[in-house]
Amino acid sequence: MAHKIRAAITGVHGWVPEDKLTNADLEKMVDTNDEWITSRTGIKERRILRTPGWATSDMAAEAVKGLLEKTGVKPGEIDLLIVATVTGDMVFPDTANTVCDKVGATNAFGYDINAACSGFLFALATGAQFVVNETYQKVVVVGADMMSSIVDYQDRNTCVIFGDGAAAVLLEARRDGTGIQDFVLRSDGSGRVHLHMKAGGSKCPPSAETVAQREHYVFQDGKRVFKFAVEGMVSTVQEILRRNHKTIDEVNWVVPHQANMRIISSVAEHLHFPIEKVMVNIHKYGNTTAATLGLCLWEYQNQLQKGDNIVLTAFGADSPGALCT
Ligand code: UT7
Repeated sequence: MAHKIRAAITGVHGWVPEDKLTNADLEKMVDTNDEWITSRTGIKERRILRTPGWATSDMAAEAVKGLLEKTGVKPGEIDLLIVATVTGDMVFPDTANTVCDKVGATNAFGYDINAACSGFLFALATGAQFVVNETYQKVVVVGADMMSSIVDYQDRNTCVIFGDGAAAVLLEARRDGTGIQDFVLRSDGSGRVHLHMKAGGSKCPPSAETVAQREHYVFQDGKRVFKFAVEGMVSTVQEILRRNHKTIDEVNWVVPHQANMRIISSVAEHLHFPIEKVMVNIHKYGNTTAATLGLCLWEYQNQLQKGDNIVLTAFGADSPGALCT
């Protein structure tokens, strides 16, 4: 039977810095403790990029280099490289082209997608279109964030959660029924009041005052985001299953954004899905924003089998989901 052309993830690779920031380390920095962090978030440690002069593009480049080595693709064969990030090296130019330069992808064009924790799925959906339309053959999608560059290590509400990391996937065309089957993508811009970085953009450009007010850091209303996350992830997964005439029992893996173990458990419970089949690495890396989904796929790759139904789901100020086989 002839299948329609789909964009398939044909390789995945991740990269995290070696330096760890443990709960014990955080106890010395803010008024917190291992018991609180573990029971409220599930996080034990995160990775922090401390290599002098390195930034998000360097983590992304390491992930892409590993991906190319693994898949046997030469840098010059990449047609398009998309980086999902909220911590690009600079406001401009975009980090994707810096990554292309660092890995020698001289024939590629690149651009960034800024959609916070949903960025990887938005980038995946966008990159897949070029493959399905047969415009390009080899598309690399990277999720990379150096959250330590925008986290206030005096704010216990946020500093215990985030970490640094990068992951890259290769998208290529497949006609055997495998590949990305569908996306459900949503945004709700009104959520910006609950999760944002106040200064540094055109609304509130950097000044001595914004620095003094500590406005160049992540702000979040944790409780509001938590509630939104569970509702958004559950409803998008249910919608994608309904649209594709599948039941939750036919799903082999759920890959959720890694923001809080309680969010992940709650989503699994609401979906009546066994937690053993939910990819989890939050205890090791915390929330790496755009990198979480790719890092999960990287760590679980040896447990995946051809034909598995995999549902990816994320949320930020947005809540997309994707169904891959
Ligand atoms: O990728 C998207 C990014 N954001 C998220 O996903 C965040 C989603 N939200 C969450 O993960 C949780 O809301 C948090 C982990 C951020 C907070 O957990 P919570 O159970 O919602 O706690 P809370 O904010 O209601 O705070 C409970 C108490 C407060 O003390 P009082 O007012 O009850 O005395 C906080 O001040 O816990 C206190 N608290 C802490 N205590 C020790 C907040 N942070 C800490 C901390 N250590 N690090």
